[in-house]
Amino acid sequence: MNVPDAGRAGTFLLGGKAPIHRLGFGAMRVTGSGIWGEPDDRAECLRTLRRVPELGVDFIDTADSYGPAVSEPMLREALHPYPDGMVIATKSGLVRTGPNEWIPLGRPEYLRQQVKMSLRWLGVEQITLWQLHRVDPKVPRDEQFDAIKSMLDDGLVRFVGLSEVTIEEIKAAEKVFPIATVQNRYSATYRIHEDVLDYCEARGIGFIPWYPLSGGALTGQDSPLSEIARRHEATPTQIALAWLLKRSPVMLPIPGTSKVAHLEENVGAAGIELSDDEFDALDGVARKRA
Ligand SMILES: NC(=O)c1ccc[n+]([C@@H]2O[C@H](COP(=O)([O-])OP(=O)(O)OC[C@H]3O[C@@H](n4cnc5c(N)ncnc54)[C@H](OP(=O)(O)O)[C@@H]3O)[C@@H](O)[C@H]2O)c1
Repeated sequence: MNVPDAGRAGTFLLGGKAPIHRLGFGAMRVTGSGIWGEPDDRAECLRTLRRVPELGVDFIDTADSYGPAVSEPMLREALHPYPDGMVIATKSGLVRTGPNEWIPLGRPEYLRQQVKMSLRWLGVEQITLWQLHRVDPKVPRDEQFDAIKSMLDDGLVRFVGLSEVTIEEIKAAEKVFPIATVQNRYSATYRIHEDVLDYCEARGIGFIPWYPLSGGALTGQDSPLSEIARRHEATPTQIALAWLLKRSPVMLPIPGTSKVAHLEENVGAAGIELSDDEFDALDGVARKRA
């Protein structure tokens, strides 16, 4: 059996400088229910994380708030010292008050504290890609952006990304520092950020679609993608990811899983090339379901 290889998805230059394979991994699911606390099957989560680089994945997304403080330390436990070229992207700016509770907090001193905690939890001296998880509406935007600029200037972080933002917010941040990536919710059936994706593509900004499998709704036999999947001898999950990869050269999907078998299936999408006709057909099917 061919080993899935994320390298087949092609390469993107993060910040115009750091090469990563376009199919990455989201490390939010190696936590407990409600993204809270330790996962039920910790051993399988560790096996999943250790399998990530073996499949050519060199881009992992995490956050201080996953657990909180569960996903980052587990990545360190599973993968440190990290393989050459491995980019671990993290985020801060959301506090957790319980399972499924996420509250924006963009006070400059809090953002700086959390970057320093992420350095410790991940066991690195610099975070290659740090993302503002949410712009906090309670804190003046410029205060948040200035705090980020100072972390870039001090070398705590190398590249900066934003999450769940509009074009207007990206433009405001670009006046203060360069934007390497934008991470907004996006999938074949969830398309409200088309304008942001197009803006990112025009500017060479990486677009990281979170919830790329609609949290599992695009997987399984009931998926709207089942028919095209059968024709490709692929799974609906793989077709959902292949569709994303074809949608834009700046698209960097990070499907999340806590299971080795699902990881292997997902990375298998890197080898699937959809024709233009199939892409258009899927576009139609998915839009009807959106
Ligand atoms: N910026 C943000 O605000 C934000 C928000 C949410 C997520 N994220 C990031 O985006 C990443 C991806 O999002 P996500 O994890 O929420 O959603 P997702 O990737 O769309 O879906 C993950 C869900 O699908 C299941 N799954 C994955 N692969 C599967 C497969 N091959 N077959 C069947 N089920 C499968 C997983 O369960 P199993 O564990 O059982 O495989 C999990 O429940 C996260 O890991 C995180 O890094 C960012």
